[in-house]
Amino acid sequence: MVTKRYLVAANWKMNGSREQADVLVRTLVDAGIAAINADIALCPASPYLAQVAQALAGTPLALGGQNLHMDDCGAHTGEVSGAMLKDVGCRYVIVGHSERRCGGETDVDVAQRVAAALRNGLIPILCVGESAQERDAGKWCEVLERQLGSVVDHCGIAAFGELVLAYEPVWAIGTGNTATPEQAQEAHAAIGRYLMEAGLEAAHLPRVLYGGSVNAANAQGLFAMPAIDGALVGGASLVAQEFVAICRAAAISAGQ
Ligand code: PGA
Repeated sequence: MVTKRYLVAANWKMNGSREQADVLVRTLVDAGIAAINADIALCPASPYLAQVAQALAGTPLALGGQNLHMDDCGAHTGEVSGAMLKDVGCRYVIVGHSERRCGGETDVDVAQRVAAALRNGLIPILCVGESAQERDAGKWCEVLERQLGSVVDHCGIAAFGELVLAYEPVWAIGTGNTATPEQAQEAHAAIGRYLMEAGLEAAHLPRVLYGGSVNAANAQGLFAMPAIDGALVGGASLVAQEFVAICRAAAISAGQ
């Protein structure tokens, strides 16, 4: 049996309220999430970070932001910096989510945000993934290489030893149309090959999470694939029993 430590990260996106965040964390903790043998992170919207940090204190669960600015402070109205995320207790930050890339975030912007995260002692969860059109055109691998290449160019290949990747095909996000375990495995393996060709030693290969309509029913099949090291979970992470089941599936796949 494969022994690896999975990471399951909850991307709450722009959802919830103070009360809902409290109830969700309490329900997760009451369901025994802290005892599950996997790395688990919750990424609430910025206004709820401090409150979730407090609720998670004393548990092994980690906190993550959903985005950060490339600068550490200054005249950037409405933005949040890596220094601030670190200050409120974040360990992770999602970078380059397709919902942000679709809103105009470029490959260079994403690379600068990865640099800002690392500079502030945060672990970036760097999202990459192709659209349906790009997949249909047979260009998924090319797109992943372009998105990764920008980070290699700006941050250096060694940065990949300090981050987490999330392969999130755009067509699978929020659609219920999950990639098959085989499709995800193929993409994850291609990512690993690309990073090694770019000079990363095998021992430094990052964990690659799969994201896109992961739920309690499909998690086990995805986690069974050798190149899948966890999941970035959107919709299902807002439902306590679904998210706990996904985390348990990760622990089972790790043989723990
Ligand atoms: P989903 O979102 O699980 O709702 O598809 C995943 C993500 O966008 O990170």
